[in-house]
Amino acid sequence: MPSSSVSMHGMWSSRLMFILAATGSAVGVGNIWMFPYMVGVNGGSAFVLAYLICIAVIGVPVMMAEVLVGREGRQSPINSLISLSERSGLSPHWRVLGWMGALTGILILSFYGVISGWAMAYVVTTVSGDMNGVDASQVTAMFDSFTGDMTQVMVWQGAFMIATIFIVARGVGDGLEMAVKYLMPALFILILALIAYAATTDHFGEGFRFLFQFNAADLTAESILAAMGMAFFTLSLGMGTMIAYGAYMPPDANILGTVGLIAVLDTIVALMMGMVIFPLVFANGLEVSAGPGLMFITLPLAFGHMDGGQLFGGIFFLLVTFAALTSSISMIEPAVAWVVEKFKLTRAVAAIVIGGIAWLIGLGSVFSGNIWSDLQVLGDRTFFDSVVFLTSNILLPLGGLIFAIFAGWLLNREIISGQLEMSGPSLQVWSFLIRYIAPVAIFVVFVMALR
Ligand code: PFF
Repeated sequence: MPSSSVSMHGMWSSRLMFILAATGSAVGVGNIWMFPYMVGVNGGSAFVLAYLICIAVIGVPVMMAEVLVGREGRQSPINSLISLSERSGLSPHWRVLGWMGALTGILILSFYGVISGWAMAYVVTTVSGDMNGVDASQVTAMFDSFTGDMTQVMVWQGAFMIATIFIVARGVGDGLEMAVKYLMPALFILILALIAYAATTDHFGEGFRFLFQFNAADLTAESILAAMGMAFFTLSLGMGTMIAYGAYMPPDANILGTVGLIAVLDTIVALMMGMVIFPLVFANGLEVSAGPGLMFITLPLAFGHMDGGQLFGGIFFLLVTFAALTSSISMIEPAVAWVVEKFKLTRAVAAIVIGGIAWLIGLGSVFSGNIWSDLQVLGDRTFFDSVVFLTSNILLPLGGLIFAIFAGWLLNREIISGQLEMSGPSLQVWSFLIRYIAPVAIFVVFVMALR
């Protein structure tokens, strides 16, 4: 039996709300900005195949473990880890894993707020018609001059952070749930509209083949590694977000079915974004391997030349902002829930304190485009690149690895079978994936990423 059937922070009102919220967390800038550029950089369909396999054999089992720990613990990830460790006869020091996750979330939000701020700014830039008819060098110059303008980027980042803090402060029911209830369906509709547009270009088939003409022979070690890191980031795993959201999950929802659906929805959004972006890239003779600039440099160029591009471009960047908001709120939920429990603060104060810290750290990422552009922090990386590297390549895989060992090898088996409601072969498959496949695979990614 779970330790409690409700959380002090509130509850998702239904299984559907949990699915929307967790899908909202998973679907974000990772799917929209990072996935297409990673596909482009890593050669297309082979990367997609590796990504799909990683989602299925690592992502789904780890997410199931996070959700079950949350629903059993019914508290912040830190306190859920303490209580489940004690009930499994383990040291309460497993809480360190929760602290690491809470800190990782704050760090991710610090740079995520900057990218999301760019997306918000691009809603205005695109709708105002500034992109109409621009050429590649102009659009690049516009991007560089925008990110180089410290005040502008700070204003947009600040606006995004205030929106995030506002939603989190309102709590599970009125804040998080209201946001995902409207933003997630809107997101799906907007993407479908963009796919319909992409289908009108002569290059839809070409984009489709680039994504799906699987050829296993194209798989390289690098593309597999990149795909695994992407799988972690995109499913919001390795830092306790799914533990936090699992704590608000109704007791009667089945974990395997629910998590499977979230993974499928997240994957569909990423693939749909590929189907939006690549036909546009091909139709405009752009470079698929443009890298991180793919969205902010090449897409406005495409929008600037298509009929109705002003409107579609505006819709697109609005969509990115929506998706980013339903993810950003989940990044600080682990820390906010813990601060509320530990210091008995109201959610509003906790959200302002934690969001404020993320905002302050994020200023370093704002400055990386301008006054700190020459500052090197980790190796030859700017502050911004260092935080991205530290979180995605080190902290998330490390958190996922330790968590897989905790859940697979140490957690009380009765808690697991009670929460997962699985037995026989299906439980054996999950146990095999979480005990052997996930830790070994994550370890390999981690070591390679460090090198
Ligand atoms: N999954 C989000 C995305 O793909 O944009 C990013 C993210 C959200 C990472 C929440 C980590 C997290 F805890």
